[in-house]
Amino acid sequence: MTTRINLNGDIRQDAHISVFDHGFLFGDSVYEVISTHHGQLCFANEHLRRLRSSAQAISLDIPLSDEQMIEEIHKTVEAAGNPESYIRVVVTRGVGAMDIDPETCTQPNVLIFVKPALQYPAENYKDGINVALVSVKRNPKEALNPGIKTGNYLNNVLAKVEARKSGAADALMLNPTGQLTECTTSNFFFIRDQRLMTPSLNCGILSGITREVVLRLARENGVLVEEGEWPPDVLQNVEEAFITGTVKMIMPVTSLDGKPIGNGKPGPITKMMMRLYQDVLKSL
Ligand SMILES: Cc1ncc(COP(=O)(O)O)c(C=O)c1O
Repeated sequence: MTTRINLNGDIRQDAHISVFDHGFLFGDSVYEVISTHHGQLCFANEHLRRLRSSAQAISLDIPLSDEQMIEEIHKTVEAAGNPESYIRVVVTRGVGAMDIDPETCTQPNVLIFVKPALQYPAENYKDGINVALVSVKRNPKEALNPGIKTGNYLNNVLAKVEARKSGAADALMLNPTGQLTECTTSNFFFIRDQRLMTPSLNCGILSGITREVVLRLARENGVLVEEGEWPPDVLQNVEEAFITGTVKMIMPVTSLDGKPIGNGKPGPITKMMMRLYQDVLKSL
């Protein structure tokens, strides 16, 4: 089980970048996390598309084409040689003056981290997790748009710290107008009146790749889907809930602020979505 890091094409066990890189100084970077299934990259095109759109949104040029990026990812995955990989692609603004202005940063750094795949405890999937509705608000779209996957995750870090203090596994955040958004590294879904509901992109969330797959699978399998803007009260009579993300896939949420959701166990629609998602991964 090994870690390999590709820094601008050079693959090593460890890598170092300058303390003057604006990614380090200001969180001025974009990134993606890609997983593998049976050694194959999952949804690589979707991740690279989102990386490019995040970079464009912060006026950062990615110095590699998608084909070159895929080649570098494959080389790094091969060098690490793990059965399943966790892959993090980071593009930083690069080295520049100790000044917020990115003008002096002329060469972005491209890092590809490959580690053994992360495994969440099996109980998380069998029994579900407890999520806390936290006081920390998700960044508003008009400030640091959560739709851009930047390396500036302090908003989410603060939410996670608050959730941990209350003994919850993750934090569910509202936007500044009081609507549900997402968790710290995942999208949030709930089931009410047999309908699969999730905050719309308009609320200020990341357009999760797993979220998109789940919405498509639900529609294809006759589950009614609603994307909307809701206050947290909507969660009062919820039957089921789950979160989605590349690494955790679909993880049931069985309590909110310590109070059971439905009967406190993963429900039938959640289980069905988990099964359908596994089938998609198998077919990749
Ligand atoms: C804030 C946030 N929301 C949602 C997600 C889930 O996105 P995806 O399904 O593309 O992994 C992530 C993943 O890192 C995230 O950081």
